[in-house]
This record gives sequence, structure tokens and C-alpha cells, in this order.
Amino acid sequence: MTTEMFLSFHGLLLPKEIHDPESLKFAQDFRFKDNDALAVTYPKSGTIWMQEILPLVLNGGDLTPVQTIANWDRVPWLEEKRLALVVDQLPNPRAMVTHLPYHLMPPSLQTSRAKVIYVMRNPKDVLVSSYYFHQMAAFLQDPGTFGEFMNTFLEGKVLFGKWTDHVKSWRHTELGDRILYLTYEEMVEDLPAALRRLSVFLGRNLSEEVIQKIAEHCSFRNMKANPMSNFSLVPNEYMDSKKSPFLRKGLAGDWKNHFSSEQLAKFSSVIKKELENEDFCLPWSL
Ligand code: A3P
Repeated sequence: MTTEMFLSFHGLLLPKEIHDPESLKFAQDFRFKDNDALAVTYPKSGTIWMQEILPLVLNGGDLTPVQTIANWDRVPWLEEKRLALVVDQLPNPRAMVTHLPYHLMPPSLQTSRAKVIYVMRNPKDVLVSSYYFHQMAAFLQDPGTFGEFMNTFLEGKVLFGKWTDHVKSWRHTELGDRILYLTYEEMVEDLPAALRRLSVFLGRNLSEEVIQKIAEHCSFRNMKANPMSNFSLVPNEYMDSKKSPFLRKGLAGDWKNHFSSEQLAKFSSVIKKELENEDFCLPWSL
């Protein structure tokens, strides 16, 4: 990564287009409220999906915010410049997202009763999604070949560092029952079931009719058609959807179309090694 395009924040490289020292300070000083909901993802794990889902679960299925407010203002990133501009307009309860690791959370996450939803995705599909994202986003470096980008990813020289560090950091929190772990794959497999878990966690008693309405609205097809969620509001020179759309395939298992057997062996062995002393199980084989 070139230093002109990125800033370093506690060892994490972040694009200057989106973050600056003020926005990162704003995040560090942020005061969470007891009824806030924060979705945490490593990039390319379902962040904008949560930006669609959270307002609907919190407001009982009212489509107005997801049809009228761009995803980045509707459920802003804690660490991005936009937050300071929109924070006062967020509804109550508020929803936000972050890619930051747990140890960079502001102290108020711990002292408040805010709730956290950690969404994890198979890292092989994260790598593939990220590879295409690097091709379409002008604020990221050219990924090179898939094999080259795999090495960059495994070395953690990508946005928000190593996937394994991110997952580990959010598995070792003091949040107790204030954190819910969801997987991208379970959302693909059975979105209504994931929405039921989420709504119970957030203390929302949603009827089956509302769950089905939210699931329908948050389908890949519908989100791809929603200009407030598909990044079509972003100029092409910044994100070129002709190179690869942001909502690209929305599948679990697309990695099978990209990895050679050698790449798979290398990827699996690195990830397994980095997680070998962990006491949690991944829901997929590596
Ligand atoms: P693909 O590139 O594999 O299609 P993030 O929002 O964290 O950047 O993650 C982007 C990934 O989530 C993309 O994956 C995108 O298509 C997928 N995604 C977003 N909304 C989705 C939905 N409703 N259903 C399935 N996948 C979705």
C-alpha cells in the first residue's frame, strides 16, 4: 500500500479518503448509549447487509429509512468521517457498524449496555470478495493476480489487518451476553431464522409477518436494486461497478471458483496455524 493513500492507525492501514485523524479521534471518544446496536465485521463479511437489516429490525419493519437514506448515513461506520456529520440525525435507538478490532473500541462500549452483533464470513469468500472490491475501488491498491492478493491478505497488508486478528479480538471481549455471533453463511442459508435470533437479541418482539417482510426486503436481489444500498450514488471514478458491482454475487462458497488446490492448502494452513490455540470452532472447514 502506498503511504500517500493510507494512514496508519495502531498498525492498521486505512484509506485517507474515508478516515482521518479527526474521525479516528471521534471514534475513540465516542459515547455509546445503552440502547445502541453496533454491527462489527471484518471488511467484505456482510456490513452493508447489516446496514439494511438493523434499522428494519429496530423500527419494526418500516422501510422508510432504507428507501430514503444512503447506507453509509443510515447506519454509519464508527471510524469514518461521515459519522460526525450524521450522528445527531440518527434515530433512537441508533445503529452503527465498525471494522475496528475490539481493543480499539472506545471505553463507553464497555461501560454502556450497547449491544454488539459480530458477523463472521468464511475467510476464503472474504478474500474473493475483497479481491474484486480492490479492482473496483479507486481508493485501494490494485490487487494484482489472485495469488498475489492472497499473499497480501494472509500477511494482513489489507484494510483492517489480518482476518484472524479481527476474529480473535472479538472472541475475547468482556461483553458477555451483550454480543451476538452471526455468520454470513447462516444469513444466506436462512435469513428469517437469523432475523429471529437478531430480533430476540435486540429485544424486539417481531411478528412472523414482519420477519418475512424484512427478509424479503434484505434479499440480495432487492438490495442490488436499492439505490440507497447498492453504491450507485457513488461516482464511477471512485467505485467502478462496471469492473465489479459492490453487490457482486452474494453467495457462500464462491471461493471454489477461484482457489487452486495449492492456494487452498496454503491458505488453510496459515489460517489454521493462526487459530490453533483458540477455544472457538469455526463453522466451516478450512
Ligand atoms: P460478494 O462480493 O461475495 O458478492 P461488505 O458489505 O462487508 O463489504 O460485504 C460485501 C459482501 O456482502 C459482497 O459479497 C456482497 O455481495 C455481500 N452482500 C451484501 N448484501 C447481501 C445480501 N443481501 N445477500 C447476500 N450477500 C450480500
